[in-house]
Amino acid sequence: MSLHTPLCDLLHIQYPIIQAGMGWDKEGLTTPPELVAAVSNAGGLGCIGGSSIRPEVIRERIRAVRKLTDRPFGVDITLPKMEDVRIPDPDEVRKEIQERFPKHAKFNDELIPRLGLTAVPPDRKSWVKTPAATREQLKVILEEKVPILIIGLGDTAEVVPLAHERGILVMALAGAVKHALSHARKGADVIIAQGYEAGGHTGTIGNFPLIPQIVDAVSPKPVVAAGGISDGRGVAAALALGAQGVWCGTTFLVTKEGGINPIYKNQILNGSSEDFVRTAYTSGHYARHYRSAVIKEWMASGLDAMPTPYQGNAMDEVRRAAEAANRVEVLHVPGGQVAGMLSEERNNVPAKEIVDRMVSQATQILNDMRARFVGA
Ligand SMILES: Cc1cc2nc3c(=O)[nH]c(=O)nc-3n(C[C@H](O)[C@H](O)[C@H](O)COP(=O)(O)O)c2cc1C
Repeated sequence: MSLHTPLCDLLHIQYPIIQAGMGWDKEGLTTPPELVAAVSNAGGLGCIGGSSIRPEVIRERIRAVRKLTDRPFGVDITLPKMEDVRIPDPDEVRKEIQERFPKHAKFNDELIPRLGLTAVPPDRKSWVKTPAATREQLKVILEEKVPILIIGLGDTAEVVPLAHERGILVMALAGAVKHALSHARKGADVIIAQGYEAGGHTGTIGNFPLIPQIVDAVSPKPVVAAGGISDGRGVAAALALGAQGVWCGTTFLVTKEGGINPIYKNQILNGSSEDFVRTAYTSGHYARHYRSAVIKEWMASGLDAMPTPYQGNAMDEVRRAAEAANRVEVLHVPGGQVAGMLSEERNNVPAKEIVDRMVSQATQILNDMRARFVGA
């Protein structure tokens, strides 16, 4: 079984299958090291989703992955446009929200009891992302000399030279041609073209028009396709559109090593593509996730999201109230439209098996298509 593109040589991996960084696990922190290592050990590339965790947790997770694999892996962080807060403490940010965004404060204050929940103080997961904290996250990744840095959102100008000085490759996500061109001009080594259908933060253009346009725009830089890919059919289609690999999130979330709470897993395995909607409720930037009770209330409110990090702070209040009451079913796992393709058959399948299935099915499709459709 062999599926090899030039991207494999660049990243020193066997197969062009990448597990997307996801800020999510049983505790709601970040990609379990077991998942990252399983994908890298299977010949793909595993990634830690570091965007919403404290810098010291990123360091712990990097070290945990290194204990489980000596293959390359990546860390993903986001550098979103954001405002700086007065004091980076969840309770202080709440006070700022009350002063500056009273309608949003009222929405949460009414939503929490309406859901049968009680507000609780910040917990160990509550954390305010500020420009300074983002720089600290980056510092840890550079210090740990992780082989690959992925920028999920935001400008790559500052990070590319810092990473390259240390021999770290940079991959950057783009949901539009202009963003891809910007990353390419700033020196990103690989562009990840991510379509509307993707889970987590995502843009408005579907993959069929997006991928070929980005491939043409940034050529000869390699492009990876993201969003909606869960099997070898998606891999073969991505290659046909000009991509050299795939970046898959939701698909790996429900694997054996994905380790998410069964309630969230259920949202993906039993949810349809239509159940995964895009809102700015979770962070202030548009992201796709399950249409939960909280999201339905938000969509009905008619409010526009607050800027980052205020919106994330408000979401965190609801998150911790639901977790404290053991009622996470009112919350929403990030996930893509591909959830409609994932059913019980995919529950707890080892990540290595998913990688193997993707590679063998894609290889078979590529061979079959030539035999069946290409005339003599
Ligand atoms: C549960 C979950 C958490 C995610 N967390 C992050 C994150 O912390 N940072 C980030 O840049 N992208 C995050 N993403 C987006 C993924 O990295 C990836 O771009 C996306 O899942 C690809 O689309 P797919 O889910 O259709 O495969 C997340 C996605 C999911 C499903």
